[in-house]
Amino acid sequence: MPADPRLARWLQRAEARIETTLPATDASPRALHAAMRHAALGGGKRLRPLLVYAAGAAVQADEGLLDAPAAAVELVHAFSLVHDDLPAMDDDDLRRGRPTVHVAFDEATAILAGDALQAQAFSLLAEETRAPHALRVAWLATLANATGAAGMCGGQALDMAGTGASLALEELERLHALKTGALIRAAVRMGALAGTNDGAVLQPLDDFAAALGLAFQIRDDLLDIEASSEQLGKTAGKDQAQAKSTYPSLLGADGARDALARQVARMDHILAGLGGDREPLRALARLAVERQH
Ligand code: IPE
Ligand code: IPE
Ligand code: MG
Ligand code: MG
Ligand code: MG
Repeated sequence: MPADPRLARWLQRAEARIETTLPATDASPRALHAAMRHAALGGGKRLRPLLVYAAGAAVQADEGLLDAPAAAVELVHAFSLVHDDLPAMDDDDLRRGRPTVHVAFDEATAILAGDALQAQAFSLLAEETRAPHALRVAWLATLANATGAAGMCGGQALDMAGTGASLALEELERLHALKTGALIRAAVRMGALAGTNDGAVLQPLDDFAAALGLAFQIRDDLLDIEASSEQLGKTAGKDQAQAKSTYPSLLGADGARDALARQVARMDHILAGLGGDREPLRALARLAVERQH
């Protein structure tokens, strides 16, 4: 079945909004601006922005409202990758087939570029004049909670603490839910909030997003052991080399595949019970678990 044709259009919308929101490289401080652009442009599957549009479509949101949250969540994601790759964290030199930001520039610039990308995400939401104030505040709270100690940053802290340790499955699930799931849930919630405040609609979408977030990171862990660096555009085999706590390290590759299949079944079940236009969400769920990079 071909992917929903709207995805290509949404991808373009998101790319355009990300591009226009980033500072120009001919303005000072040039290296910082160039590093921000290096991190946020030129590659990336843009899954999180696409989820914003897909969740919006599921609740008939005005598409024009979705560009800001789509770009904002991707800016936070880009920031998370810049810091994830730093020597103090995963110490990676390859990302999206190019040198990581601290390699292409320097470490201080990478830290500052991550900080600035994060701040830019929140300005974008606060200043989206097409959206009513209440919606802007709801977006800001959603993205802030998903980014901070109760979300991605908290998960990254658990990831660092879990390096070289042997975690229980529930601990690993929580780590993945925070470091990767939180931003994916925020993407779905921000898209949905543009069309509804109804908890009965938001809850199943959030359940779907939580399953997708976990599935996405299990797939990431499997690709790390199964794919090449060339295919991934990032260094393969890093998790084992660094003794990261992952699904394959805890359950073996087959056990990780079983865990992934359980999340796929969960997503199918939730989608079957959802009203509205579910096709783009279905297509993105497939992309998350069948992706080759
Ligand atoms: C990589 O995310 C980091 C994880 C949370 C697994 P993506 O696989 O979405 O990275 P890009 O944006 O497509 O490069
Ligand atoms: C990253 O997880 C999660 C983030 C919050 C960035 P990984 O460390 O597994 O991501 P990759 O494999 O470097 O993309
Ligand atoms: Mg990491
Ligand atoms: Mg990493
Ligand atoms: Mg990984």
